[in-house]
This record gives sequence, structure tokens and C-alpha cells, in this order.
Amino acid sequence: MKSIVSVLLVGSLVCCFAFLRSDLDVRAEPPSSAPVLPSGPLGETIRLGQELVERTTTHPLSKLFVGNDLNCTSCHLKNGTDPKAATFLGVAAAYPAWSPREQRVITLEDRILNCFMRSCNGVRPPLGSKVSVAIASYITWLSEGKILRMNAENPKGPNAVPRLTVKLESASIERGERLYSKKCATCHGKDGAGKDDHPPIWGRRSFNQGAGLADTVQLASWLKVAMPLDETDLADQEALDIAAFVNTHDRPAFDLKNHLPVESRLGEYNAEQTR
Ligand code: HEC
Ligand code: HEC
Repeated sequence: MKSIVSVLLVGSLVCCFAFLRSDLDVRAEPPSSAPVLPSGPLGETIRLGQELVERTTTHPLSKLFVGNDLNCTSCHLKNGTDPKAATFLGVAAAYPAWSPREQRVITLEDRILNCFMRSCNGVRPPLGSKVSVAIASYITWLSEGKILRMNAENPKGPNAVPRLTVKLESASIERGERLYSKKCATCHGKDGAGKDDHPPIWGRRSFNQGAGLADTVQLASWLKVAMPLDETDLADQEALDIAAFVNTHDRPAFDLKNHLPVESRLGEYNAEQTR
């Protein structure tokens, strides 16, 4: 009897993953420890959130809010399921959190929407909108079962990219340029503009000056755990030199007022207004 129950249980888990993965890219594979997708509208909303993270620039619900060629997954690798590269695993358990930048306690939704304004060089979607709720549902799902531990210092989850202990003054743009030609240009282009599935890393279609990665040490720290894609092998100093070279190029300026929606669109009543 027991074994029948466990066969049924395993069978239904496999079905759930098959359902979740049916029309998604292989890179979207959830980690083996991922919780089971809830049934009904909540499960559908989580799935929608995953699609929005993967196809932010092309999905009809999110593309209006994006001002460059980057999807969330361009930096949160494998839709945030890569355990190192700005992972979403465990993130939801750190919110609400104190944010030195906003000088406020912010929610997970706030954090998500702010990435639209900066990393995606777009406009902040309204709080409570489908885009916002779906992405928050997806990221929260990836933290199911994790212990809630709100972060009183930074809006960062327990597995955030560790900041490299390098000295910015020691960065060499010349060394960075040589390393870039050797290790990065084949995918992102000599001009940094990227092509096909390789996103632009500077210029007007990349992240703006207000994004986290516009900070050279933060970019170096992310490169160390994320690039070259699938074969991260940079020494700390190399990551810093390359980051310094990348950030000598122009990218869109950031002026907050150009990225906030009109006041009446800052928030939405989160309900179907039928009753
Ligand atoms: C240009 C790269 C880039 C893009 C594009 C981007 N982000 Fe981020 N995002 C970052 C970096 C870097 C961090 C800091 C992460 C860290 O320290 O681990 C971050 C942080 C976050 C966090 C907080 C993580 C934590 O540990 O608390 C969330 C949530 C988030 N981003 C959501 C999104 C969503 C949703 C999108 C798409 C709408 C997006 N980001 C697009 C680079 C990016
Ligand atoms: C094999 C191809 C490849 C190589 C080599 C490579 N990248 Fe990437 N890079 C990618 C892809 C693909 C993404 C987006 C990830 C995704 O969509 O899954 C990316 C994302 C990025 C991003 C974040 C998104 C953006 O456009 O700003 C930066 C920054 C970046 N790479 C910099 C570099 C640097 C610097 C190097 C050299 C150390 C490098 N990459 C080497 C393929 C590559």
C-alpha cells in the first residue's frame, strides 16, 4: 500500500514538472529542489511570472515597460535559478527589507519594479498590475519552504552575489580591453552591442547609469560568478579590469522622473472589478 502511495506521489510530481516545463526553454529548468507548482490560478500566475522573467522584452504584458534589449534572465541567469548569478533562490524570504538607495523599507514587488526602471531602462509598472504580481509570485515560489529572515541592511537575499574585495584604483582599462577581446567579444561584439541571443553590454540598448551593474565593483563581482557564460574563470583582478573597460563606454543616463509612471498609474486596485 505504502509503495503504491509513493508511486502515485512521485508520478504526480513528475506530471507537475512536465506541465510546468511543457512550452518553456530548457534553460528555464527549475532546480531539483524546486517546490511543486500550486494548482489553479496561483500556479498559472507563477508560470506567467517565469515567462515574463524570460521574455521581458517581447511578452505583450511586460514589453511596454522595458526600454532596452535586456530580459530579467539576461542577468538573473536561468530565470533566476542559477544559484550564483544574481539568483532568485531564497530572495523572497529577505523581504520587506531596508533599502539604503530608496531610504525606505521596500517590498519584493518594489524591488522587482525598480529593476524595470534601471536595469531594463524602462518605466516602473504599476504596483498590483499583472506583471508585478506574476513576477512576485514566481520569485516567491522559488523561496517556498525557506526560513523568513527579513534583511535590515540591504534589499538582498541570502545568496546574493558576494562583493569582491578589490581596489577600484587598481583597475587597468588597457588590461581590461585586451581581456575583453579575448574572452567576451565573440559573443557581445567588439562594439559591446551584442547580437542575436547575446545582449548588449553598453550603448543605448543596454542597462542605464542607475543600474546596479553600472557600478564597476558590482559589475566585476557579477562577472566573476556569471561570465564568460558557462565557463566562469575570471580572477578577481581580471573581472575588475574588464568591468572598468566595459564601464568606460556610454550607456543611457538615469533621471528618476523619466522612469516613474504618471501618478495615476503608480498603483492599481489588485482585483477584477466585478463585485
Ligand atoms: C542588467 C542586469 C539586470 C537586469 C536586466 C535585471 N536585474 Fe535584477 N538585479 C541585478 C543585480 C546585479 C542585482 C543585485 C543582485 C545581487 O546582489 O545578487 C539585482 C537584484 C534584483 C532583485 C533583488 C535580489 C535580492 O537578492 O534581493 C530582484 C528581485 C530583481 N533584481 C528582479 C529583477 C527583475 C524582475 C528583472 C526584470 C524585470 C530584473 N531584475 C532585471 C541585475 C539585473
Ligand atoms: C558564450 C557567449 C558569451 C561569452 C563568451 C560572454 N557572454 Fe556575457 N552573456 C552571454 C549571454 C547569452 C548573456 C545573457 C544570458 C541569458 O540570456 O541567458 C550574457 C549576459 C551578460 C551581461 C548581462 C546582460 C547585459 O547585456 O548587460 C553582461 C554584463 C555580460 N554578459 C558581460 C560579459 C563579459 C564582460 C564577458 C567576458 C568576460 C562575457 N559576457 C562573455 C553570452 C556570453
